[in-house]
Amino acid sequence: MNTISRIPSFIQSALAGIVLAFLSPAVSQASDYIRALEPSTEPIHVRVLFESNPSREAVVAWTTTAPGENHRLYYDTEPRGGDLDAYRHDLPSTHSAPYTLLDAEREAGMHSWSHNVFLDDLEPATAYYLTVVSDGDASEELHFITAPADETPVRLVAVGDSRTPRAGRTHPENDRRLVNALMRRQMEEHPDVLAMIHGADYTNRAYWAELYWWLKDHAEMTTTADNRLLPIIPSRGNHDRDVGFEEMFWWPDRENDYYYTTHLNAESALITLNTEISRGGNQREWLESQLAELRPGKRWLVAMYHRPAFPSVRDFEGAAPQRLAWVPLFDQYGLDLGYESHDHALKRTHPIYQGQIDEERGVIYFGDGGGGVPQRRPDPDRWYLAATGRHHHTHLLTFTSDKLEVKAINIDDEVVDEFALTHDRREVVTAGSMQ
Ligand SMILES: [Fe+2]
Ligand SMILES: [Fe+2]
Repeated sequence: MNTISRIPSFIQSALAGIVLAFLSPAVSQASDYIRALEPSTEPIHVRVLFESNPSREAVVAWTTTAPGENHRLYYDTEPRGGDLDAYRHDLPSTHSAPYTLLDAEREAGMHSWSHNVFLDDLEPATAYYLTVVSDGDASEELHFITAPADETPVRLVAVGDSRTPRAGRTHPENDRRLVNALMRRQMEEHPDVLAMIHGADYTNRAYWAELYWWLKDHAEMTTTADNRLLPIIPSRGNHDRDVGFEEMFWWPDRENDYYYTTHLNAESALITLNTEISRGGNQREWLESQLAELRPGKRWLVAMYHRPAFPSVRDFEGAAPQRLAWVPLFDQYGLDLGYESHDHALKRTHPIYQGQIDEERGVIYFGDGGGGVPQRRPDPDRWYLAATGRHHHTHLLTFTSDKLEVKAINIDDEVVDEFALTHDRREVVTAGSMQ
């Protein structure tokens, strides 16, 4: 364990803020990722966001570097090859707004605008072909696939901690882009990948000069050869507190601060929680009501949140807020899996129930964040850890009626951990290692 990890995270954040405040002017001048953007209404960063009902609802969003006047989405369930007259549906932007800029970004000329179209009348398990147009400048035709409303199996790719890749934010082969390419290969191998769930810490700060590159990497690297987009189901982490996060992941009339349930198919749900606000209070009450409502009808229940309850690297005591507030509810309602990030390693715990290993009733916690951030050294001696490693990686989750399968895959396409819950949830099949 290193010394830094013994310092409480809020003090770490405060110290980092003080250091950044002193360094900002120098960093800004030296930062190649803060740069002038040619003003244009050509759509870039085209993406799809899912929230509660991905069988019915989505936001299609894009960026322009000039404000423009007319922003419109053309879409259809048949490919139309970008022929705007042929699309059966079109809608104007629901919400267009400039991205908030720091002084250094404004001075560099990084002005950009976000355009978002909310769709709420989609058909389940259907491919939607789309072209977005800003003032006559059109994207190429892209498509995404909505979630099934029945018990059709679905897959997710899970990733967390994609900030500050070692080679630099603009490097064409930085680790974040390599993980994005891995997710694209998973999508190409598995046409039933529904979306990417992101365990947060997208960038170092949610400032436009950082988000610009994250969105560019996502669009360029995760879109398949046949132009299928990888929809995003986001969570919020300690590096995502600035307003740019809300601008990047706009959704109409959000009820809560990035905690919500996603219905993946008729028998599987993902509960996204927010570790950056109180884990108690309204959020805990909401979580309990969701678990009570969902557990009887759902075969599989997975939770996603940024800071781990069972960390692989950082101080165990530092993880107390989410462990004390949420884990008793996970135990009580029989959550299947907890997907965690923030520690920058690869981990899987033993099944844990009421603070002890319990193969029959335990919840498995896995993840810890390998989306491009440099990997730390996990502590394999902790009683609750069953597998650890240091890999840039994604997890592929497969939800079928009989089995919930999870594979951790590194950027060399090697399966580095693997486990499954079978129809009798008590039987856990695993193959992993301690590194
Ligand atoms: Fe992180
Ligand atoms: Fe974090």
